[in-house]
Amino acid sequence: MKNLILGATGNLAQQFINIYDQDKEIVLFVRDKKRLQSQNNHYSVIEGDMYDYKTIIPALEDADIVLSFVGSSPMPLFANNLLKAIQESNSNVKRILWLGAAGANKETIGREGSFWKTMPEYFGQQKDAIDIIINSQIPYTIINPAMFNTKKEQKAIITQSDTQVAEVQSVSRQTVARVFNNSLINNQYINQQITVGDSY
Ligand SMILES: NC(=O)c1ccc[n+]([C@@H]2O[C@H](COP(=O)([O-])OP(=O)(O)OC[C@H]3O[C@@H](n4cnc5c(N)ncnc54)[C@H](OP(=O)(O)O)[C@@H]3O)[C@@H](O)[C@H]2O)c1
Repeated sequence: MKNLILGATGNLAQQFINIYDQDKEIVLFVRDKKRLQSQNNHYSVIEGDMYDYKTIIPALEDADIVLSFVGSSPMPLFANNLLKAIQESNSNVKRILWLGAAGANKETIGREGSFWKTMPEYFGQQKDAIDIIINSQIPYTIINPAMFNTKKEQKAIITQSDTQVAEVQSVSRQTVARVFNNSLINNQYINQQITVGDSY
């Protein structure tokens, strides 16, 4: 079985791949493999586009867990296309770890208050995609980072996205990558939606 990484050329995905140290092989789904920072024989790479669900199907062969780092628009289409590909490929995906964004639930984040008010279209899309994944019947973990900062990894401050006000203001991509990794290997936050920050 393999873990499938969607959006593997992205900044956050690269941080995750850098710290990934499991034995299980990973498949990187990318639009253009030339954009991958490091070519590594430990990983297989499949090119495709989230706009075309049929291109996701080959990447799902033997896929056990799907980790999505794709962003940032159109998120509902990306979520729907992933689910269509899973359904059509008959793959036995046991869990989806999905990258959202803190503020998608209109919750208050940090000192700035509601992120939603600043970019309703962006957060509306994030929320719709999150709901599509939650309603898919596949076990999920939604990881909603606060605004990215440029710091190195710090201790993650985690709250439940749908029930709490997060006072954190921002987060390092390295911190978020660690939360993805810990959630993956320790089976943490199953069927939960968490907000991740590391700085007030
Ligand atoms: N900026 C923030 O403060 C913040 C805070 C919370 C959450 N987020 C979310 O986190 C996401 C990831 O952040 P990041 O810094 O890692 O962004 P990034 O470097 O722009 O990564 C986005 C990834 O998505 C891929 N992608 C986009 N459209 C695609 C498509 N149609 N098919 C396949 N792959 C596609 C990109 O591929 P290419 O390399 O081919 O373009 C890239 O690998 C953001 O997009 C945003 O939704 C951001």
